Amino acid sequence: MKEIRLASLKLKNFKGIKDFELDTQGNNVSVYGDNGAGKTTLFDAFSWLLFDKDSQGNSSQSFDIKTLDEEGNVIHGLEHEVEGVLQINEKKLTLRKTYYEKWTKQRGSAEKKFAGHTTDYFLNEVPVKKSEYDARINEIVDEDIFKLLTNPAYFNEELHWKERRKILMEVCGDISPEEVIAAGEGLDDLQSILSDRSIEDNKKIIASKRKKINKELEKIPVRIDEVTQGLPDIANLNKEDIEAEIKGLKLRKEAKEKKITNIKAGGEIAENRKQLNEIQSELLEIRNNHSSKYRDKIEEVEGKLESARDKYRELQSTIDQKQIEETGQVIPEIKTLEDRSQKLREEWYKVNDEKFEHEDECPTCSQTLPEEQIEEARTKFNISKSKKLEEINVQGKELKSKIEDLNLRKEKLKNDINLLDLKQQDWEKHADDYKKEIQKLKEESKSYQDSQEYQDKLEDYNQLQQEIEQLQDNKSKSADEVKEQIYLLEKEIESNERKLSQIEQYEKGQARIQELADQEKELAKEYSKLERDLYLTEEFIKTKVNLLESKINDKFEFAHFKLFEEQINGELKETCETLFKGVPYGSSLNNAARVNVGLDVINTLSEFYGLSAPIFIDNAESVTELIDVDSQVIELVVSEPDKELRVELEQQEMKEAV
Ligand SMILES: Nc1ncnc2c1ncn2[C@@H]1O[C@H](COP(=O)(O)OP(=O)(O)O)[C@@H](O)[C@H]1O
Ligand SMILES: [Mg+2]
Repeated sequence: MKEIRLASLKLKNFKGIKDFELDTQGNNVSVYGDNGAGKTTLFDAFSWLLFDKDSQGNSSQSFDIKTLDEEGNVIHGLEHEVEGVLQINEKKLTLRKTYYEKWTKQRGSAEKKFAGHTTDYFLNEVPVKKSEYDARINEIVDEDIFKLLTNPAYFNEELHWKERRKILMEVCGDISPEEVIAAGEGLDDLQSILSDRSIEDNKKIIASKRKKINKELEKIPVRIDEVTQGLPDIANLNKEDIEAEIKGLKLRKEAKEKKITNIKAGGEIAENRKQLNEIQSELLEIRNNHSSKYRDKIEEVEGKLESARDKYRELQSTIDQKQIEETGQVIPEIKTLEDRSQKLREEWYKVNDEKFEHEDECPTCSQTLPEEQIEEARTKFNISKSKKLEEINVQGKELKSKIEDLNLRKEKLKNDINLLDLKQQDWEKHADDYKKEIQKLKEESKSYQDSQEYQDKLEDYNQLQQEIEQLQDNKSKSADEVKEQIYLLEKEIESNERKLSQIEQYEKGQARIQELADQEKELAKEYSKLERDLYLTEEFIKTKVNLLESKINDKFEFAHFKLFEEQINGELKETCETLFKGVPYGSSLNNAARVNVGLDVINTLSEFYGLSAPIFIDNAESVTELIDVDSQVIELVVSEPDKELRVELEQQEMKEAV
């Protein structure tokens, strides 16, 4: 247990107090003074010294430390100081804080200027930094705990009820579910429900489940009603009969469908089609044969035409040879021979006209020639002349026969040429005829359609096609009839199937109703289980509440705490209300009782935190009898006659006597 006592508290220019020393020597004291004498200021000074705050928890920035004059103006230039001597487990610690204005004189200026405030800190007279000072205080006591332990009103008047409840819970320690179950009756079953959930969560879960189930339960009759209303009327329907009917109808339909397939396959039409195909290929063959026949014929005639042309050309060359012989050989030869013959005739006449001429004298000696000699010369001359003429005659006859031969040859050539010309004309005519024939054949080869055979086949073809069309027409008519029958059967099947589905629907509906009824039973069972769980949970909570309250209240002598409040719906709500002899702190509790309850709380908390601190009891005059406390007590007592604060130490002997 750490014990902190205040041995002395010196104030200088702190708020309204100019200079005062509270000297307790660590004992309980009573400070007397009229209203406004400065009692509370003492507590403010102590708080400021430790935590920079006044006794109400206001920070130094928001409350005036600095002394004001009668007009309420700050008196400048003062040193505000508090010095406290603490006895911590009999060891003394002096704390001092000085707060003052800082004035600086600027160079060259006679006037000082305000430059803010400064606080100086001292531990056992040694100046220290703020951080060091605060750290030391923090070692001694936590600020929140200090507030709880020094001011009896703090716990009940300053803290939020949740804070109070939290502190109480800390003080008494938690109660385990096992403890609760052991304390209550019939709570054993809860063990399994709770598992690792809190009882509150468990309750919420149960409540929401219950709500959900309830909603579902409400819906079930509505659903059953809906299903019932939707059930079809099947009074006159028999499932087996309908199924048998459908079976029969389907068999009939199948038979009809087979018939349709047969019609579609169409035997006669197929046969006709086959024939039609055959005719078609025959027609094609006719066409092919026709043209190939003509091709042969044309080739034959073309061959003839070619040989006629050959003949013609052969004749032409023979004619050409003969003409060349006639004009190039025979005729020029005749001419040459006739020219020679003319020359011979002229020569003959020339020889024939020759007369014997003689000279009478010798040319050489110019003597007259003898007669005989002249006669002899005459005879000689005549013989030579006739010889010459004879020779010309022979030659002339020879030439004449040659010319006659040549003329014969010429005649012969002319006749030959004429004959050949005629022959040539014949071949020319043949060639023309062949040409014409080829032309004609070519024309004919094109018009295969004109052949009788072709025409007959074509007629067959058209007739067959017509027949097929006729058959097809009939077929579709009969298929339509069967289709119509199938359609009617289908409708009948459909109508029966509808009836069947009505029965099914009815059966399903019945099953659904059964299901809903089962569900309802199940839900009702679950609901009642939840009800029981909820009851147990509430029992648990009540038991826990009772345990908790008695456990907490056992720790206090006078104070009593109400930790739960029963709401209108019977549920418990957490709260934290302090009572004294059944009277709530907040409403009508008198001042004395408030102080004593506060002291009772401080007693318990001091023990819990292992720390005691000086308790400042403001308005102590209202309490005639304070309860016993282990901490140092500083009573602040209103006393009208004391205009100045007056301190009375508690008689040591008296205290010890009590
Ligand atoms: N900063 C201040 N400077 C001067 N006087 C002050 C200052 N603050 C408070 N006072 C005065 O000092 C007195 C202190 O009163 P307080 O300590 O509350 O007296 P008590 O608790 O004894 O009634 C009051 O009259 C108040 O007007
Ligand atoms: Mg006061």
